[in-house]
Amino acid sequence: MSYIDVIVFGVLISSKCSLQGAVFPPWFKFGAASAAYQVEGGWNASDKGESIWDHLLHTRSDITAESANGDVACDSYHLWKRDIEMCEELGLDMYRLSISWPRLLPSGFPNHISEYGKNYYSNLIDGLLEKGIQPVVTLYHFDLPQSLQDLGGWANPLIADWFADYARVVFTLYGDRVKIWLTLNEPFGICDVGYNLQHAPYLNDTEVGRYLCNKNTMLAHAKAWRVYQEEFKPRYNGKVSLSTLFIWYEPLTPDDKELTELTIEHWEGRYAHPIFSKQGGWPPKIQQFLDDAAKKEGYHQPRLPPFTAEEIELVRGTYDFYGLNHYTTRKVRKARPDEVIGSWPFYGSKELGIVLENDRSWPVGAVDWFAMYPEGLWKQLHWLKNTYGVNEILITENGYVNVDDDLEDWKRMKYIRDNLEQIQYAIEDGVNVTGYIHWTLMDNFEWLAGYKVNFGLYAVNFTDPERKRVPRESARYYAKVTRGRSYDY
Ligand code: NOJ
Repeated sequence: MSYIDVIVFGVLISSKCSLQGAVFPPWFKFGAASAAYQVEGGWNASDKGESIWDHLLHTRSDITAESANGDVACDSYHLWKRDIEMCEELGLDMYRLSISWPRLLPSGFPNHISEYGKNYYSNLIDGLLEKGIQPVVTLYHFDLPQSLQDLGGWANPLIADWFADYARVVFTLYGDRVKIWLTLNEPFGICDVGYNLQHAPYLNDTEVGRYLCNKNTMLAHAKAWRVYQEEFKPRYNGKVSLSTLFIWYEPLTPDDKELTELTIEHWEGRYAHPIFSKQGGWPPKIQQFLDDAAKKEGYHQPRLPPFTAEEIELVRGTYDFYGLNHYTTRKVRKARPDEVIGSWPFYGSKELGIVLENDRSWPVGAVDWFAMYPEGLWKQLHWLKNTYGVNEILITENGYVNVDDDLEDWKRMKYIRDNLEQIQYAIEDGVNVTGYIHWTLMDNFEWLAGYKVNFGLYAVNFTDPERKRVPRESARYYAKVTRGRSYDY
C-alpha cells in the first residue's frame, strides 16, 4: 500500500459518507465468481475427460506465463468446503461457479455421466444452499472436452446440439436447486481469442473458423435456453442467459464516432445482437463491413456465416436477463497508416483499423490497458437498456487486476466502491440492475498470464501444497458492503 493510495481512499470514503441514498435495494444481490478450469485443479481426478486447456498446456509450454497450467490451480476440487466458508465470510448472496463439461461428461456426450463429477457439483451446490448462498451456474467457461475439439469444436455446427444435450443433463441434475444459469461465458473469448493464437484451442483462423464459432455459439446458447424454457422452466422457474464481455468504448475525437459504433458492434454486438435485439441476426454495420472486407480479399462467401430466417427466430429473444462482464473502458481512434496494432483485443483491431487507448485523465490500474473509469459502467448500463430494451441486468463479472499480491489492495477496494456507486446511480435512473458478482473470489489461474497477475478478494499461495487462502483488505471491505448493503465503509 502506498501512502498516496491510503490518502486517496480515505478522502474518497469520507467525501462519500454524506451521500444520500447509498443503500442498495433489498432485492439487489452481491456475489463473487470463479470458473472450473481456473480454480478446480484435479485435472485427471477419477474419470474426468481432457479439456482443451489441459490438452494445450500439456503439449505446449510457451503459451502461459512461466508455463503455468490449471492442473492444481486453487485445488478447489478438494478444498470446496473452504471456498464455501469464504463465501460465507464475505456475506455473499450468490456464488457464481462453472461446471467443467469434461468432468461431468468425460466423452463430451451423455453416454456416460461421471458419478464423481456429478457428486462434486451436487455437494458444492448443496453446501452453498445450506449457507443461504444462491449458486449461479455457468455451463461453459472455456474448457471444451478435447474429444469434441477433435470433431471440430465450436466450428462444427453440430456443437449446438451437443451443447443442448449437455445442458439438458446439467438442468436435470441440478435444476431443482439452481435458479440462475449462464449458458456460455464470453463467447468473444471462445471464438475471437481462441481462434487468434491466444486461448485454447489456440487456432490461427481469424477469417473463417472464428466466425463459424461466433455463429455456433449463438445457436448453442439458444438451443440450451430453449431446452430449459420448454422442459424445465415450468417445474423450476429459473432464469437463463449468458455472460457477454463488454468493454465500454468511447471515441477519442468526434471524428472517431462511427468507428466506435463499429467497434461496439464488432466486439459485443456479434455476441449480443442476435439474442437481445428486437430484429435479431447479425448487427448490420459490422456485417456489411466484414462482407466488404471478405470480398476485397477474394472470398465468395460472406465473412459472417448467414443465419437462415428460422435460425434468426431460434436465437432472438433467448434470454431472461442480460449477463454483463464489465472491466474497463477504452477510447477508440483510427489507426495511422502503417501503425503497428497489438494483436491482443484490448489494444485494437487490424481488421477494423482501430487503436484502443486510455483517456489521459483516467487513472490506470496495474496493467496499461486497465483504466479506472467507473462512469463507463454507468454509460454502458444505460446503453444496454436503451439499445436492447433489456428489463434486467445482472453484472456477472467486474474486477481489478493486480500484478503484486499485496494483501492491502486499496486500489481494488476503490475500484469496487466506484463501480458500485455507478451501479447505484444507474438503478436510481431506472436501469434494473439486480446484482453484482465480483471477479473473483480468490486468485486463480488467469489464462495466458497464469499466476503472474491476480484478481482475488482472497490471496492464494500457489507454492503452498495446501493452497492456503488469505483475505485481502478488499475482502474485508466487501464483507462490510454485503452486510451493510452500501459501498460507504
Ligand atoms: C473474463 C473471464 O470470464 C475470466 O475467466 C477471466 O479470468 C476474467 N475475465 C479476468 O480476465
